[in-house]
Amino acid sequence: MNTSNSRPKRRTANNGALSFEFISTDSAAYARERELRAKVLREPLGMPPGAEIFPFEDEALHLVARVGDDVVGCVMFKPEGKTGRMLQMAVAQGHQKNGIGTELVKTLEERLRHDGFHDVYAHARDYAVPFYEHLGYSIDGKPFTEIGIRHFLMRKAL
Ligand SMILES: CC(C)(COP(=O)(O)OP(=O)(O)OC[C@H]1O[C@@H](n2cnc3c(N)ncnc32)[C@H](O)[C@@H]1OP(=O)(O)O)[C@@H](O)C(=O)NCCC(=O)NCCS
Repeated sequence: MNTSNSRPKRRTANNGALSFEFISTDSAAYARERELRAKVLREPLGMPPGAEIFPFEDEALHLVARVGDDVVGCVMFKPEGKTGRMLQMAVAQGHQKNGIGTELVKTLEERLRHDGFHDVYAHARDYAVPFYEHLGYSIDGKPFTEIGIRHFLMRKAL
């Protein structure tokens, strides 16, 4: 998808310049995004490198948070008509709880509103539900199990 739109932002706790950027799957940053997703979202579950790959990587939006060349946060969006799924939300361990996840979601939502999407949904791991509620997402329906973890479907109108 079109990767235009990036906005320089704040700074990290150790004063590194933090920027948020939509990237394409043929960029060098995409390899780093995949490494981050594998490390934060798959390795703790005992899943091998490669388990983070989805069949729709090229059609999805990829937003990363960077400090220089390092990718310290990321989120993906898979369009489905005027709605779509937000997924692979991850912030590197040493950078969590600094507002990077919040900024990633807000930056993605801004882009989606601009592109005419009506709403967004996510499969939230149970322990991450407060993070999404904080951003205005609501639980829809009963919990379900995905990759061995209890999840909730969460939605937000844009
Ligand atoms: C969940 C995650 C993406 C949040 O990113 P982050 O940059 O750490 O979050 P923020 O600093 O923007 O936090 C925003 C708010 O959500 C809360 N929050 C963040 N992570 C949370 C968690 N795991 N559980 C409960 N609350 C959480 C924060 O306390 C904060 O609230 P506050 O401002 O009132 O203190 C990040 O912690 C992460 O990558 N976790 C591991 C992977 C994961 O679980 N991904 C989500 C899969 S659905």
